Amino acid sequence: MNIKTIATQPFQDQKPGTSGLRKKVRVFQQTPYLENFVQAIFDSLEGYQGRSLVLGGDGRYYNREALQIILKMAAANGFGEVLVGRGGLLSTPAASCVIRKYQTFGGIILSASHNPGGPTEDFGIKYNIGNGGPAPETVTDNIYGRSKQIKEYKILEAPDLDLDRLGETRLGAMRVQVIDPVTDYAELMGQLFDFNRLREFLGSGRFDLRFDAMNAITGPYARHILEELLGAAPGTVMRGDPLPDFGGAHPDPNLVYAHELVELLYGDGAPDFGAASDGDGDRNMILGRRFFVTPSDSLAVLAANATLAPGYARGVKGVARSMPTSQAVDRVAEALGLPCFETPTGWKFFGNLLDAGRITLCGEESFGTGSDHVREKDGLWAVLFWLNVLAARGESVEAIVRAHWRRFGRNYYTRHDYEGVNAERANELMATLRQSVGGLAGRRLGSYEVATGDDFSYTDPVDGGISQRQGIRVLFQGGARIIFRLSGTGTEGATLRVYIESHEPDPARHDRDPQVALAELIRLADELAGVRERTGRVKPDVIT
Ligand code: G1P
Ligand code: ZN
Repeated sequence: MNIKTIATQPFQDQKPGTSGLRKKVRVFQQTPYLENFVQAIFDSLEGYQGRSLVLGGDGRYYNREALQIILKMAAANGFGEVLVGRGGLLSTPAASCVIRKYQTFGGIILSASHNPGGPTEDFGIKYNIGNGGPAPETVTDNIYGRSKQIKEYKILEAPDLDLDRLGETRLGAMRVQVIDPVTDYAELMGQLFDFNRLREFLGSGRFDLRFDAMNAITGPYARHILEELLGAAPGTVMRGDPLPDFGGAHPDPNLVYAHELVELLYGDGAPDFGAASDGDGDRNMILGRRFFVTPSDSLAVLAANATLAPGYARGVKGVARSMPTSQAVDRVAEALGLPCFETPTGWKFFGNLLDAGRITLCGEESFGTGSDHVREKDGLWAVLFWLNVLAARGESVEAIVRAHWRRFGRNYYTRHDYEGVNAERANELMATLRQSVGGLAGRRLGSYEVATGDDFSYTDPVDGGISQRQGIRVLFQGGARIIFRLSGTGTEGATLRVYIESHEPDPARHDRDPQVALAELIRLADELAGVRERTGRVKPDVIT
């Protein structure tokens, strides 16, 4: 087998976003688009010769083809071994688990997360470092820099490997281990949660749950853990077979895209519990009977109840949330005397805090929750955590959340997304806000008074790294906030996200629809940024 060195021209648009490089499938299909990026990753790493790499993806369209290319490039570039999930599958948290467990050099995950899949939809590639987490900005900046200068890439001339059979094969001098994608992950879950108690709870027939895998990666994981290991009724897992186009659905676990599950949970004879995960298995949505738990509240509830799960019985070291995530968890941290960190959007910012042992739990408003067990957010982990809390407390989801609000107050929260906005207009909107936001301090807006306004900047408490321009914040007296930022994961135009929050201590006022409770702030947000005027939109495309 020959190693070929092939001359290439750089592409100027291979800048990794919030979570790796995402583009339309047809972009990645144009040789050498993928090859260039993979070579740029390898070129920016040092010391991987002879070491091991984890490889897998969420099974979306082009996953298998891309894996074969990456395998041959890894062999040509001198990796000693690749651990690849059978069928090319690994959920994002499972990939993180495998990297950590086998102490590999790093891993490559193929996914565009919750973005739709199929020949005309999205594909993505992301590099994770040896701690199992997404590469930090210093690494992604290097990859981007390299991608703009690349002149050649290396690939082994070899036939495609059979990735559907477990076991060891070789590719040139490199070993390839096809591993079961579920085993290591399931074992880790068994260490964190009380599987005996869960078996009794789920096998009793008195607790009814549904898990919507959205035709994506978590199907095999959820079937094995919930149905086979924990004895939940067959059929608990809905849409459990990963499909290359996710059945034409949008694999994003929210009230809009998981509507079948939502209808079940809000219908007659609704189950006690419902949950869903996204394309690559790192997001989660938690529902009780006729009750939606916002991701921000979910993080706060798990933090307050963590010691009920064996893996967290000794307590939580600290918590972190992304800046736009509601401050519900801050209140728990305050009450429990825990450190609480506010990071920019994107899971990579939690990595240092987790590695340094400063935090145990972390989460984002975008349906992401996780802990120090891996270095990615983890959908099924959050579901098992909730089930463990429910089994231990013997109360309904709604009762647990309402009790939480009574103790800590309710953080009303909503996010309004304007998708596919003209990028220039969106940038103008942000630039105008950036200029004016500092001058808002002390001003009265309706019934609110602005405490401060800024463009969020983060100094990593562990390595001192600074990340600027992470979102415009308007912070009001009393804890209400309006935040504006542009998405870093979209593949077309710009997506403007407006996050709105207020705190309500009075239990008599905990029953309101968030859109009503936040109506004045929603109106203020529009006025401050001129959203309608600048985007030409009369209302958001998605409200979560
Ligand atoms: C979105 C979410 C963010 C999350 C990321 C990857 O990024 O807002 O919290 O970490 O997806 O799942 P955005 O499109 O806002 O940059
Ligand atoms: Zn995801």
